[in-house]
Amino acid sequence: MENNQLNTRAFGPFVLSLEELRPHLLISNMTEPEIVKYIKEISMKFTKKRDQITDYVLDHRQVSAYASFYLPTNMPKMHFLLSRLPGSVLDDLKNRPFIDMGAGPGTFSLAYKMLMKIPGHVEMTAVDSAQIMLDQATKIMNGFFPGDKFQTMRKYQTAQPNGILFFGHSINEMGIDRAQDQIMTIDPEYVMWIEPGTSEFFHDIKKLRSQLLESYDVIYPCPGNAGCPSDWCHQVLRTSHDPGVERLSQMVSLDRKILPMVAHVYKRKKKTATVVNNGPVTIRFMNETKFSFEYEVCMQNEKNENRNVVIEIQKKQLSKSEEKAFKNADVGEKISFEVEKIVQEKLRVKLVRED
Ligand SMILES: C[S@@+](CC[C@H](N)C(=O)[O-])C[C@H]1O[C@@H](n2cnc3c(N)ncnc32)[C@H](O)[C@@H]1O
Repeated sequence: MENNQLNTRAFGPFVLSLEELRPHLLISNMTEPEIVKYIKEISMKFTKKRDQITDYVLDHRQVSAYASFYLPTNMPKMHFLLSRLPGSVLDDLKNRPFIDMGAGPGTFSLAYKMLMKIPGHVEMTAVDSAQIMLDQATKIMNGFFPGDKFQTMRKYQTAQPNGILFFGHSINEMGIDRAQDQIMTIDPEYVMWIEPGTSEFFHDIKKLRSQLLESYDVIYPCPGNAGCPSDWCHQVLRTSHDPGVERLSQMVSLDRKILPMVAHVYKRKKKTATVVNNGPVTIRFMNETKFSFEYEVCMQNEKNENRNVVIEIQKKQLSKSEEKAFKNADVGEKISFEVEKIVQEKLRVKLVRED
């Protein structure tokens, strides 16, 4: 299900090594024990309430430690999201101004720029209330892409109707009211976010989704614009990182191989109303038996309402490599099928492969 329009080749599998990143950190000579100490402190703050988590952005060493760990481990989430978009949407995104709201060290600006091969003249803007984060983002972006257009701002207060407004783990900090204000001010063509995949936060993000749908169509992950039937819907990426990053991950006891997230993409509604049907998407892995895989999927019914149903995919229809792929599949995949029969409220399905 890889989208081969993305630039994964240039960086091998989509991993960034600490060696590549280190020269571009604000403090590039921190020792490993020091980085570990700060990451542990920062991760403790992330598990506290939102109003207590913001002081890590005020210190050069903490920002460098944040960038050492969270930047390389979060970047693959952008690959996950872009890989799920149709080629027509990727083409449409490519030359638009990109605004990274709550950019931190530029995590997703860098991932987006690398993966989409964004040309140097395209406007890329990192917005963050913390100046040290912006200094870090500038050093990283100018380090990897010297001479390319990249600017930073503490606030973004103008409209950018052609643009893409992206939030990366920042709605979680600024809250949905402020995020909604930013969307109204900037009035972008696309709104995208990659946010924490927690059940508590899903409540907020679901509210923002329904506000947004007054003027935007959903592109990913929902099948259509109707109400969300879930109390908690999130995507899960299974990945691996550069050995140096994996080592850090072990030292701080934070698993970054399984990455839950809420990743969404919206596009401004066209003047002529269109019915959106993006097709079914997996929202939860339920079970593997000797004979089948079971997933919960979100799909539209005949009234164009989004509904959660459980599907059963019998293994006898899968090749060995398909079965292996299902064992390691991410959650949040688009999946096409025909219903063969209904067994105890589960849909037994036959997969429809795309060419
Ligand atoms: C968890 S970090 C995420 C950084 C980066 N996007 C990433 O995913 O690695 C959240 C960032 O949002 C910024 N932030 C919080 N509230 C903000 C606001 N109201 N406006 C702009 N940035 C904000 C913080 O300073 C911090 O850098």
